Amino acid sequence: MKTRNIFITFLFLSLLIISCKTSEKKEKIIGKISEKAMVVSARMEASKIGSDILQKGGNAYDAMVATHLALAVVYPVAGNIGGGGFMIYRNTDGTKGALDFREKAPIIAHKDMYLDAEGNVIENKSVLGAHAVGIPGSVAGLFEVHEKFGSLPFKDLIQPAINLARNGITITKKQQSDLENAKERFDKVNNYKSVFNEDWQEGDVLKQEELAQTLERIRDFGKDGFYKGKTADLLVNYVTELGGIITHEDLEKYQAIWRKPISFNYKDYTINTMTLPSSGGICLAQILKTIEPFDVSKLEHNSTEYVQLLTEAERRSYADRANYLGDIDFVKVPIDSLTDQNYINKRMSSFSWDKATPSSEISHGKILGYESNETTHYSIVDQFGNAVSVTTTLNTGYGSKVVVKGAGFILNNEMDDFSSKPGVPNVYGLVGSKANAIAPEKRMLSSMTPTIVEQNGKLKMVLGTPGGSTIITSVLQNILNVTEFNMGMQESVDKPRFHHQWLPDVIRMEPNGFNAQTISKLETLGYEILERNSLIIGRVDAILVLPNGKLEAGADKRGDDSAVGF
Ligand code: DON
Repeated sequence: MKTRNIFITFLFLSLLIISCKTSEKKEKIIGKISEKAMVVSARMEASKIGSDILQKGGNAYDAMVATHLALAVVYPVAGNIGGGGFMIYRNTDGTKGALDFREKAPIIAHKDMYLDAEGNVIENKSVLGAHAVGIPGSVAGLFEVHEKFGSLPFKDLIQPAINLARNGITITKKQQSDLENAKERFDKVNNYKSVFNEDWQEGDVLKQEELAQTLERIRDFGKDGFYKGKTADLLVNYVTELGGIITHEDLEKYQAIWRKPISFNYKDYTINTMTLPSSGGICLAQILKTIEPFDVSKLEHNSTEYVQLLTEAERRSYADRANYLGDIDFVKVPIDSLTDQNYINKRMSSFSWDKATPSSEISHGKILGYESNETTHYSIVDQFGNAVSVTTTLNTGYGSKVVVKGAGFILNNEMDDFSSKPGVPNVYGLVGSKANAIAPEKRMLSSMTPTIVEQNGKLKMVLGTPGGSTIITSVLQNILNVTEFNMGMQESVDKPRFHHQWLPDVIRMEPNGFNAQTISKLETLGYEILERNSLIIGRVDAILVLPNGKLEAGADKRGDDSAVGF
């Protein structure tokens, strides 16, 4: 009788456990699934335009052009023709490459251009207004991509964006608040009232006729429709009117550059990501190689030990970033040594599970900046198996806030990504050295990390995110979520994230995402924790190839991000 009761109790408990497990499974967050093709971007309209191009038989590169231009209209806080970015691609035959369409410093820029007579950094000069603007690279980048890989006529790819600009976009709640926050700065910087200076409310339709006409000039005259002729005149004249230093020669000379991606192995995976002038690839490689010797999957996700291990790896990598990294066309960067396993193991020799390594013992620096952060990332996989990962930006929200009079587009404030003075932090709290000092025609160091992951030589994941200095660590955590913790794409994107960047010596955590015990244990170990409401740790837009060959999207719920596919 007793044995029978024990047996029944055992059976009951087993059933309970099984049913809990199944209900856990049922609740697993799954993103949009598609059979063949997917576009994930910051806005539904842009993802749909990209996906429609694929439906019409276009490839991922055609969809990239269409999505990028649509984002310039529907997501003006970061989508752009007045900014720049990076792209990583992987063709269906496994060939890979990278495109650098990063902004450049103007020809008459110089190392001390943001310093006053005493040699102090002039507040906001590299952030707000005409002086903050780098030479835009996006339009050159799109034509470069289209010439090399495009299959549909450019005019068909740009037309949806022209229509969107002319017919209007519907303001979302997030957009309303972004525009509200930037209003004062738009007013301060511009000498006229652009469309962005009005009181936009959720649901309003914002029409951008001047932008539509600029896009038409690009449609009709190609790259010259932006870098020469009327658009160039409008840009140079307005920037000059506002006291800036961009010339026609700057625009005419701009060229996007094809580069070799940083490719490295992490366990069974090959990670292909952006090389200099983005620090993303080198830092991602350093951090992943630092933690590779550890049995990461045995650690509980977002536990004290997990946060600690990643933090110590990040701290060491960001210290190297500040010292060594800059535009590879201007400075020598020892990429091989920085990513060498022996060097990395040596850097970790001071790591202890028992206490935090203070950043002051690794090197030295200062405080955080104030601006709202906006960049945007989109990921595309087409029905032929090509994949494209693009991160593009104006830098902070609406860039320099300069809206080119008569041309309707916003100019970046990417000059702030240079190190204005060694040791003085930029808006992301990042410090730099001579390697990232300003020089004529040099590209400023970036953190953008568009990435494509392969497993056994096959496409596995396409991902990237905005987030300034947090881009690298958000990409990192999503790679680990999938490869070490077996998460699906949406589940991974939804997970709370944290970030450490050497200086300031704090772990930034998404509010309400981490349990109190984990935080208090970390504090006991000597880590300072910062949970801040306004803090955005990226908006990851990603695609995962599932074992059955279907695609799962991860569209970040922190924004209006959305996936469209078929
Ligand atoms: O290139 C960079 O690293 C920065 N300009 C990116 C800015 C950014 O991600 C702002 N976004 N949230």
